[in-house]
Amino acid sequence: MRDILTELEDRRAEAALGGGDRRIEAQHAKGKLTARERIDLLLDQGSFEEFDMFVRHRGTEFGVDAERPAGDGVVTGWGTINGRMVYVYSQDFTVFGGSLSETHAEKICKIMDMAMQNGAPVIGLNDSGGARIQEGVASLAGYAEVFQRNIMASGVVPQISVIMGPCAGGAVYSPAITDFIFMVKGTSYMFVTGPDVVKTVTNEVVTAEELGGAVTHTRKSSVADAAFENDVEALIEVRRLVDLLPLSNREKPPVRPFFDDVDRIEPALDKLIPVNPNMPYDMKELIAAVADEGDFYEIQQEFAKNIVTGFVRLEGQTVGVVANQPMVLAGCLDIDSSRKAARFVRFCDAFEIPILTLVDVPGFLPGTGQEYGGVIKHGAKLLFAYGEATVPKVTLITRKAYGGAYDVMASKHLRGDFNYAWPTAEIAVMGAKGATEILHRSELGDPERIAQRTRDYEDRFANPFVAAERGFIDEVIMPRSTRRRVCRAFASLRGKRQSNPWKKHDNIPL
Ligand code: HXC
Repeated sequence: MRDILTELEDRRAEAALGGGDRRIEAQHAKGKLTARERIDLLLDQGSFEEFDMFVRHRGTEFGVDAERPAGDGVVTGWGTINGRMVYVYSQDFTVFGGSLSETHAEKICKIMDMAMQNGAPVIGLNDSGGARIQEGVASLAGYAEVFQRNIMASGVVPQISVIMGPCAGGAVYSPAITDFIFMVKGTSYMFVTGPDVVKTVTNEVVTAEELGGAVTHTRKSSVADAAFENDVEALIEVRRLVDLLPLSNREKPPVRPFFDDVDRIEPALDKLIPVNPNMPYDMKELIAAVADEGDFYEIQQEFAKNIVTGFVRLEGQTVGVVANQPMVLAGCLDIDSSRKAARFVRFCDAFEIPILTLVDVPGFLPGTGQEYGGVIKHGAKLLFAYGEATVPKVTLITRKAYGGAYDVMASKHLRGDFNYAWPTAEIAVMGAKGATEILHRSELGDPERIAQRTRDYEDRFANPFVAAERGFIDEVIMPRSTRRRVCRAFASLRGKRQSNPWKKHDNIPL
């Protein structure tokens, strides 16, 4: 019996070594952790239960069967994050460069199927040279099996991808389908075709970092949601994110203890809005003032900064925040900010996370660049996303809410549950100057008269009361009491049930 037990231990030890000490050293020399070290950091201590440790590949071509390491380049299983179950796969670059074989794919698919069945998130730690070249189409088929499961799991369980090494070719499309993509600065990159192919086809000379590094994907392409300094930081941030999310679409997000008075009054908010309506202020100050302990988990911080998206907790409950940012492009909506916010709103709605919308928007950004780029279609995404969302929606207009952007930003008309305004709100078709110039074009030669007309327009529309008279604004609130009002609104909506008419799926403008 002892020999049998020893054999199991030996086999486990062999599997734990992956591609061997030399390759593990090489991995460390690049500043990267191994697949197992990453899992240890991601999950609660001692909670990891492994699947398929002894699976070996079935390839025979190009001498690949000379090496058949146990585990086949990916460590899979489940464990807990702050006591809540998650499924995880972690690609092992020390085994055939973490490349995906048929069996490697089968291991990933097995835990994805389990995650769907049991209702828990899937976290993929990606570090792979892509399709296992020696396996040819069997490897491509393996990828497609993973993609199909990513698609079926979308909106059912949260899916998080962490890119911690190369991720090239069609391999990028599994992360692309998941809900969040995190990258590690300097050691991870994603592209459909690498720098060598780019050079051959387009004659462009570009480094891997420029083409698909963390900075590129968080600032330019918006493929990635965040980038972190190293493996450790990235994994800690995944733990923080998971803590905010429900395990599946069948459950509510976790309620965490909070140590912040719901009735906290913030007198500084009474002075947040500058006297000059063209002066910016930082909307993140308001977010921090409302959130439990001022804690804000921002998503896509580096992209389309004219809109801010992320998670806070109110009375310990997760709430998604979408906020115009007057500091950037005066808070205008444009193509990028509409796409960013629409995707975030749809994530929140899919997973029953209530949405707080903070509005200070002078309208859509004008110009040929925007129109040629399809701002109509992209702006419609955000409109669509808000209109279809059935989660509790609380909206606060702090200052400008002009034109179509007023409608789009979770207005009453898009089934907003609580639509609040500060007394400084201005709700109108457009700003006073633009409106006067259109309405009184014949008087443009008389500056005094135009100034009077502008003042008249401001007196009439530069306030929240016209909208409040009609019930489009439910209540005009004191800025200092925002936290209390917003928390009470969400508390009253905990029993909200709303559904959309049956359909196979919608046809959101893509
Ligand atoms: C088999 C692979 C491999 C692969 C790397 N290795 N990629 N083995 N299939 N795709 C092996 C190497 O032979 C090497 O083995 C070990 O992994 C480490 O690789 P190195 O090249 O030494 O490492 P490094 O210098 O860090 O370079 C990493 C790399 C490079 C940039 C990922 O290996 C590379 O370019 N690989 C090929 C990438 C690629 O073109 N993949 C196919 C993409 S198309 P030893 O034994 O020396 O340790 C694709 C289609 C998916 O993925 C389609 C889905 C629809």
